[in-house]
Amino acid sequence: MKFPFLLPLALLTTSALAAPLVKQTIATGLNDPMEIAIAPNGDFYVIEREGRVLRINPNTGGIFVIGTIKVHALRSTEPKSPIGREDGLLGIAIDPAFSTNQHIFLYYSAADKLENRLSRFTLKDGKIDSASELQLLIIPTERDQTATHQAGSLKFDSDGLLYLSTGDNTNPFASAGVAPIDDRDDKIFFDAQRTAGNTNDLRGKILRIKPTKTGYEIPQGNLFPKGTAKTRPEIYVMGCRNPFRISIDPKTKTLYWGEVGPDAQADGPKGPRGHDEVNQAKAAGNFGWPFVIANNKPYPIVDFSNNTIGQMTDPNSPKNPGKRNTGLTDLPPAQSAFIWYPYADSAEFPIIGKGGRNAMAGPIFYHEADRKFNILSKEDNKTLLNYDWMRGKIFKTKLTEDEKFEKMEILMEKIVHPMDLEMNKDGSLVLLEYGSDWYFNKNGSVSNLLPDDGNKPPTITIKATPDVANGYSVDKASDPEGKPMVVSWYVTEDTTERNLGTGSNIVLPAGKFQEIRAVAKDENGAIAIARISLTHASELKSLKLELGKTTQKPTFGDKLKYKVTAEQNPDPKNLSIRARYVPPTGHDSGGPKFEPEPAELAKANQCLACHQVDTTSVGPAYFDVAIKYRDQKDAKDYLVNKLKTGGSGVWGVVPMPPQAALKADDADRLVTAILELAHGANEVAGNLEGEITLPPKFNTELGGAWEISAEAAGYSPSKIRIPAK
Ligand code: HEC
Repeated sequence: MKFPFLLPLALLTTSALAAPLVKQTIATGLNDPMEIAIAPNGDFYVIEREGRVLRINPNTGGIFVIGTIKVHALRSTEPKSPIGREDGLLGIAIDPAFSTNQHIFLYYSAADKLENRLSRFTLKDGKIDSASELQLLIIPTERDQTATHQAGSLKFDSDGLLYLSTGDNTNPFASAGVAPIDDRDDKIFFDAQRTAGNTNDLRGKILRIKPTKTGYEIPQGNLFPKGTAKTRPEIYVMGCRNPFRISIDPKTKTLYWGEVGPDAQADGPKGPRGHDEVNQAKAAGNFGWPFVIANNKPYPIVDFSNNTIGQMTDPNSPKNPGKRNTGLTDLPPAQSAFIWYPYADSAEFPIIGKGGRNAMAGPIFYHEADRKFNILSKEDNKTLLNYDWMRGKIFKTKLTEDEKFEKMEILMEKIVHPMDLEMNKDGSLVLLEYGSDWYFNKNGSVSNLLPDDGNKPPTITIKATPDVANGYSVDKASDPEGKPMVVSWYVTEDTTERNLGTGSNIVLPAGKFQEIRAVAKDENGAIAIARISLTHASELKSLKLELGKTTQKPTFGDKLKYKVTAEQNPDPKNLSIRARYVPPTGHDSGGPKFEPEPAELAKANQCLACHQVDTTSVGPAYFDVAIKYRDQKDAKDYLVNKLKTGGSGVWGVVPMPPQAALKADDADRLVTAILELAHGANEVAGNLEGEITLPPKFNTELGGAWEISAEAAGYSPSKIRIPAK
């Protein structure tokens, strides 16, 4: 029997790819996973943005919450909050001597203070002992005024030095996508001269320290020798904007990182268009921001008070003239990026494509004949695996013997926001996928990427056994080769798991379990994992919506009375009541949806990274857009143009980047589909009790239903459906 559509494991091949890799999914259902570290015994440790630290057993898929760090982070209870939207639990590294000392290092946004911390924690009985926290670095931060960019990647090199990347903590939105070097008195957080360009500030840097039993020491070879006036000795690399994921060559100790660049679409008098970068540092250095970008393209010093354009920066002897600069004025010479690319097609690196960008650096591949796996060939020895979160691709960049760029190819694509990529000891890759949305994902995952040895992995799904209390059984399972396989059952109990034996079904023993799991293993050791959660937590308060009595089924244009209550009433100004006509065709069961064609278009054009149809993400929910413009005549032209130009200010301060790769007729189709979401919908806001007018009739049949919903931030929405005339 074959079940080709059940693919917890998928074979990923496309014609453009060099050698296919087999993806074997280990853990699913993660909430915004940020970074992964592999322990000496092979366990995966994963952090989630909102503060959970997970241990994952790579053999059974077991996911164990070993601690929750109190962090400041954007929460689903307040999804539109403008405060510290890029904060959270940001980075993790495991001590090289973890087997004996149980130390893990975390970088996080403190909940109780306006600061980020690099701290060491010690595990006790497999759990984080919060009393064991040893704070190593305190980095001041600003969360208001959309001061963003926290970076936060942590890595050890083979000498036991710990690297931490930090962002420029600056509002990038008010400087039109060029250098944010605003010196005006009230624009503190719009000025990266105070952070990334400041030799005396730990932000916008890659820091390098040697952790000790009680703190840390400064290693030899950092950018400024200890004791140099107006400098911080922890700085290894300065001049970074948002150096999001870092990686270190295990043999040469060369440092790589992806740098998320600014948004300017075109070169202009205030500087070059924005580029993302993959950087390489063989030694300490200044990588330019906010005075230089890409392959040393300089910005001029702009006086934001009168918009005059001053002296052009000289990349060989850049200066920081900012009045908030507490460090040196004369900076070390700027270093060129290793790889750089704009939104548009890249002349230098065409394989990287165009569109949204979020450059990241992954591990360096070395071919090792005596290792279990080599994901690339002998000819690929010394290859950097860089990737892009927005584009969903991993690239393989072949390096020369002396670490110069030789060529770049696509290794893998169609990845759901690759967030981290590590090389495991056995030579397999470990891929962390963030999930499809910008925030509040429940579908983050961890996978192994293995070379294709011709053996196709099995597939499995499980279900509750009908009519058997606490019984679970294999729903569908198959091995593509038709060979026998073994199904083992596990339950998760707090931070451990219990093996319940093998077979096609199982009955849970007495106990309190978080999850039941079946692991199917084929003759060659390839596995597939299926899981069912046994916890049903609900954190949000609920609203109660009541409708006034009507004598007959309501129809288009009628008025309906409503009333909203809750255990603790929401602030009326946060409340919105919507009415939506659901046609009788039966295909509209959930919330408003796109038709299949625009749904595909939105996916193909990366819109879904920032937008969902029914909920707010980085950008507004499309249904909210539709409601807002439902009566505006020129809405279509306006929105098509907005996609072309990008911009901010309508829904918040975060801009939409220009959709450079979007074809004109696709823009037209997408905007049409977005606006059509409002057909048959209406909204009133701001009152706990009142009346809503049902929308005018549109091109549809009668006889469907009315869905009336009440929504407020911090509450789970309430929806009622009543038959329509
Ligand atoms: C990187 C994140 C991002 C991506 C990718 C993105 N958007 Fe947006 N979008 C935003 C943000 C942020 C806003 C709010 C802008 C504002 O407040 O003016 C927005 C606003 C919009 C609006 C409303 C504009 C207005 O002025 O009211 C539409 C329509 C829209 N986006 C459609 C799209 C489509 C279609 C795509 C894909 C082709 C897309 N977006 C891709 C972030 C994004």
